Amino acid sequence: MPEQSHLTVAIDGPAGAGKSTVARKVADALGYTYIDSGAMYRAVAWKSLAEGIPPDEENAVVEIAESIEIDFRRERGDQRVIADGLDITRMIRSQEVSHLASVASAIPGVRHAMVAAQQAMGRGGGVVMEGRDIGTVVFPGAEVKIFLTASSGERARRRYEELKGKGTEADLERIRAEMEERDLRDSTRAMSPLKPAPDAVPLDTDGLTAGQVAERILDLCRSRGA
Ligand code: DC
Repeated sequence: MPEQSHLTVAIDGPAGAGKSTVARKVADALGYTYIDSGAMYRAVAWKSLAEGIPPDEENAVVEIAESIEIDFRRERGDQRVIADGLDITRMIRSQEVSHLASVASAIPGVRHAMVAAQQAMGRGGGVVMEGRDIGTVVFPGAEVKIFLTASSGERARRRYEELKGKGTEADLERIRAEMEERDLRDSTRAMSPLKPAPDAVPLDTDGLTAGQVAERILDLCRSRGA
């Protein structure tokens, strides 16, 4: 049954819940394509910043979202983010871009453009996509939907370790404060706020390793025919 082996796996949840590490592991284990939808909002924010467009100039930000070419490229086991031909993988992880991505992602026109691009990338299945609205808006028909959570202290600590591991300056308290601010904006915005799909499986990752979380998701995928 070939169509059953090309599931769509939606992994949603707040920043630092462990989505990227886990989604990548699940995609690798199944031989599926991994897509980080947050990187796409970050790419729009990065380009707006590079072009000197303030985030409140919504029409200009929407124009960027509608015209930007975003590609994901696999390189030596790493996923690279390419925007209009330029490798922006590192640049989109700055705190400034994190903040602007959250602001840009609340603009309806930006969401329309990103959702359309994400649906095109995931057409045909065999994809693990992580984000905030994958199970609710992008792929409401996904066979597997997971909503990952973790306490805010744990989420801030993970993001701090991730940044430090990449050699980026980081301040734990500032990360925690900014993460809480972004979570609030992401979950209270009018369009597609962060919330679990009614049929999503909730998974609290506190005290679990990424490997353990991935295994649980893989069990679910296998039970659905992967
Ligand atoms: O996952 P992330 O932190 O890289 O996402 C960056 C921002 O984009 C974050 O503020 C939430 C937003 N986002 C969104 O609104 N919808 C998605 N599907 C993915 C991310």
